[in-house]
Amino acid sequence: MADPPAKPQWPQGGPLPQRFSSNYARYRERGGLLDVAEDARAYAGADKVLDKERFVFLSLAFDQIAKEGLTGDVVELGVYQGQTATILARNARRLGRTAWLMDTFTGFDAKDFVGADAGRGPQFTDTSLEAVRARVGEENTHYIKGFFPDTAAHLPPDGRYCLVHIDVDLYAPILSALTFFYPRMVPGGFIVVHDYGSLAWEGADKAVDVFFADKPECPIQMPDSAGSIVVRRQRPASAATWMQAKQVVPVGEWRPTANGQAASVLGEGWFRPEPWGVWGVGPSHVIGIVPDDPGLENFALDLDVHAVVQPSRPTLLVDVLVNGEPAAQWRFSEAENRGVRTLTVGRPAAVPATVELRPQSVLTPRDLNPASNDTRPLGVALHRLRVR
Ligand SMILES: C[S@@+](CC[C@H](N)C(=O)[O-])C[C@H]1O[C@@H](n2cnc3c(N)ncnc32)[C@H](O)[C@@H]1O
Repeated sequence: MADPPAKPQWPQGGPLPQRFSSNYARYRERGGLLDVAEDARAYAGADKVLDKERFVFLSLAFDQIAKEGLTGDVVELGVYQGQTATILARNARRLGRTAWLMDTFTGFDAKDFVGADAGRGPQFTDTSLEAVRARVGEENTHYIKGFFPDTAAHLPPDGRYCLVHIDVDLYAPILSALTFFYPRMVPGGFIVVHDYGSLAWEGADKAVDVFFADKPECPIQMPDSAGSIVVRRQRPASAATWMQAKQVVPVGEWRPTANGQAASVLGEGWFRPEPWGVWGVGPSHVIGIVPDDPGLENFALDLDVHAVVQPSRPTLLVDVLVNGEPAAQWRFSEAENRGVRTLTVGRPAAVPATVELRPQSVLTPRDLNPASNDTRPLGVALHRLRVR
C-alpha cells in the first residue's frame, strides 16, 4: 500500500485548515487537487513576508473551482515579484487552464495617480518580467507586460475566467479591471480584489464599493493581512446549478461509490464514503441523476446494493420511489442480500431524476453486536450505479 501523503507544514509554523493538515490523506484520497506542501514552498520562495491566510483562501478557491467543475482561465492583474502568481499558475496547470499574468513589471504607472491616489509616487519597481518568469514558470502561463487597461487587448477576445485576482492597489486600474473582467467571468467565477479594508489603499475600497453598488453580488471580506474581498459571479436562474451539472453521469458505465467517487449524485441519507462504497443511513437515501444523453427520455438505472439481514431480522423491505412516486418494493433476505437491482426512470424536464430508497427498518452495528460502539442506523448500502 502506498504511504499516505505527508502532512503539509506551513513554512513559518502554525495550523493549516484540516483538509490540508490532519485530514490531508483523506483529502488526497478523495481527489483533492492541491499539493499543499509544494504550493506553500513555491509561494514562500525566498520571501520573508508570508501571508498564510491569503495563501489559504486562494488555495481553497481552487478547491471549490475543481469541485464545482467551473470552466475558464485564471488571471492575475498585479504580479510584482510573482508571489501570489505561484498559486494561480500552479492551480491553472492542474486544472489544464491558462494563467494570464499581467503587470507593467516596472511598478505603478503615473497615469493612475488620480483621485484618491493623487500625489502617490513610484512603487514596486524592484522586479522584472524575467525574474517572475523564472519564479513562476512557463507551462500554461502567459505574461502580459504593460499598462492595464491597454493590455486587455492582448487577452483572447472570447476569454472567460474562473478566477481573477486583482492586486493593483490603486482606484483607477481596480475599477477598469472590474469593468473588464466582471462580464467575462463564468457563472460562479471568483473575483478577488486585494487591499480592500487595508486602510492603506483607499482606492481599493472605493473602486469595489462603486462597482458593486448596482450589481446583484455582494463582496465578502477575507481575513488576509492587507484584506481582500471575494465576489462570486452570479449564475443565471435558468442555468443548471453546479450540483445539477455534477449529477450528469455517462450512459453505460458503472460508477463506483467508493471513496466519494459518486458523491455528487448522492443526496440526503448517505454516510461518509468508505473504501468499498457507501452506507445509506436513516429512513431515506436519495440519489439524483442526469444521464449525459439528452435524447434519453426513459432510462434504466442499475444499483448494486446490499442490506444487512440476520436471524433477528431475516428480511428487509425497502420502498423505492422514482421522481417522488412509488415505483417498487425491494426485499432483501439472506439468499438475496447483495446484487444489482434495476429501476426504470423517466427523465424530468428541468431537474435531475430522483430515486429514493426507504428501508422499512434500520439496524445499527450495535444492534448486531452489543460490544460495538457504532450506532449508525444502517439501511441500504450502495456499491456502484449505472445508467443505460
Ligand atoms: C502589490 S503589487 C502585486 C503583488 C502581488 N500580487 C503579490 O502578492 O505577489 C501591485 C502590482 O500592481 C502593478 N500595477 C499597478 N497598476 C497597474 C496598471 N495600471 N497596469 C499594470 N500593472 C499595474 C504594479 O506594477 C505592481 O507590481
